[in-house]
Amino acid sequence: MSFHTVEQATPRLHRSELAVPGNQPRFFEKAAASAADAIFLDLEDSIAPDDKEQARKNVIEALNDIDWSGKTVTVRINGLDTHYMYRDVIDVMEQAGRHVDMIMIPKVGTAADVYAIDMLVTQVEDAMGLAKRVGFSHIIETALGMANVDAIAGASRRNEALHFGVADYAASTRARTTNIGGVNPDYVVLTDADDAGERAVHWGDMWHYAIARMVIAARAHGLRPLDGPFGDLKDPDGYRAAAHRAAALGCEGKWAIHPSQIALANEVFSPSEGEVTKARRIIEAMAEAAKQGRGAVAFDGRLIDIASIRQAEVMVRKAELIAAGEAG
Ligand code: GLV
Ligand code: MG
Repeated sequence: MSFHTVEQATPRLHRSELAVPGNQPRFFEKAAASAADAIFLDLEDSIAPDDKEQARKNVIEALNDIDWSGKTVTVRINGLDTHYMYRDVIDVMEQAGRHVDMIMIPKVGTAADVYAIDMLVTQVEDAMGLAKRVGFSHIIETALGMANVDAIAGASRRNEALHFGVADYAASTRARTTNIGGVNPDYVVLTDADDAGERAVHWGDMWHYAIARMVIAARAHGLRPLDGPFGDLKDPDGYRAAAHRAAALGCEGKWAIHPSQIALANEVFSPSEGEVTKARRIIEAMAEAAKQGRGAVAFDGRLIDIASIRQAEVMVRKAELIAAGEAG
């Protein structure tokens, strides 16, 4: 283990994050009553320029008037390259800051972007005497943001999560895509011909590197990595597959851009009962081994060691967070 301790961000259940456009107040109450672990009220790309001001007002009203208890509530502000951004921060924080858990910063490109928002938020919090410190979620969705992902992840003590914004990332890197977050049938490996001259086509995941890269930066700084949107609302199997791939790489959750995707995310990112039971048994087996002075033991026919305890503890901790969330 390094001498450097990785400080972990505030632990939160973050299996699903529901996107709610700020210009659609009729969805707000439903979002608050939904099964999503987290919600982001959007002031950015789902809102046309003419609606930006009204959306901001709606979001402030909703933050103050709706009971969001049990949810992590985030506001996605506009990017630093727009003139909407400063008012998003100042108006939302001044008028409803005590109800905001996190600010989501889209298209973050450099550590200095994070610094700029941190400065603004800190001033408003101080001026308003807000006791709760707002956290930051960053969307890694540009080539610049990905190139600077480590510096961004370490740029503020407010940082809690990194999200992979696949739609903008594709635009920024000029990737060839079809559906948002889907795979591309051109991204394949063709096997050599077998004896019968047949060649198999194996689809690849064109997002593998980007997600894995972001996960490493997030985890190295104690942050939660999350996978972003999946655009085909009529393809729950495609959503599940994308979520499973992200989970396999270490992501903690995925966006739901429609309420129908919440249950899918919660299902994929929750450990099963069997997994939790096994994790508890591993912790017990390793405690027994430690008493006997051993660092590794056979468990169900496989070798486990001290690293297995850490994985098992992560699993049990997650199950506890889920149980606490369900208990209300
Ligand atoms: C999210 O903002 C995305 O661009 O995918
Ligand atoms: Mg985006």
